[in-house]
Amino acid sequence: MQDALTQQQQKLDSLQTADKQHFIHPFTDSKGLAEKGTRVIERAEGVYLWDVMGHKLLDGMAGLWCVNVGYGRQSIVDAVAKQMQQLPFYNSFFQCSHPPAIELAQKIASLAPNHMNNVFFTGSGSESNDTNLRMVRRYWDLKGKPSKKTIISRDNAYHGSTVAGASLGGMSGMHEQGDLPIPGVVHIVQPYWYGEGKGLSPEEFGLQAAQALEAKILEVGEDNVAAFIAEPFQGAGGVIIPPSTYLTRN
Ligand SMILES: Cc1ncc(COP(=O)(O)O)c(C=O)c1O
Repeated sequence: MQDALTQQQQKLDSLQTADKQHFIHPFTDSKGLAEKGTRVIERAEGVYLWDVMGHKLLDGMAGLWCVNVGYGRQSIVDAVAKQMQQLPFYNSFFQCSHPPAIELAQKIASLAPNHMNNVFFTGSGSESNDTNLRMVRRYWDLKGKPSKKTIISRDNAYHGSTVAGASLGGMSGMHEQGDLPIPGVVHIVQPYWYGEGKGLSPEEFGLQAAQALEAKILEVGEDNVAAFIAEPFQGAGGVIIPPSTYLTRN
């Protein structure tokens, strides 16, 4: 037993040392992390994780809110292994396509609301929002309205960590790093009644926060507005659920 523990401790020490020397972690004070040492997760099953010391942990964050079906699904393991053997990669440029991408696009379109029928694949949420920004601007160019360039977002929104993603986001700490937001992205108040409701009822505050969008469109000029981007519920900003009057206001 003692031997096994010693071996686990040695493994942890060696991994933590290599981590400290070579691995840059996102949104992290590297010096502080190096002093504390990382928690090294080694395996997972269902909703549980195990670290290299053998501690069992409940994964309340589902990875980074993305392991929605839990860990260790054999059907997913089998499908991924089969595809890796058959065709691990191919591009979709130059008139090419491939069955998994076609079938997934079709499946997503069948699940999405009726007016959403076309899918563009990316590698991350940040990349998706970079793509959104370019696609929306290109859309208005092709519609003959090239002045429609400004994207309206919200304070304390999180839309990713790339240049466009962090600009669309409304986190001041991220804006301070890298001279963000980029031109053409503006922000309005977030619908955070608990923190910013100032004596109004949730319903009144929801309407007031929604009104800020119209005010910003009038300020920027309708002919200059390309899109409004918003998380239905702000996730990284604090899991903020807007008052019932906010998203339904039109
Ligand atoms: C609403 C939202 N948009 C974009 C992102 C960025 O996604 P990614 O971390 O995959 O780049 C996140 C990540 O948490 C998110 O919550």
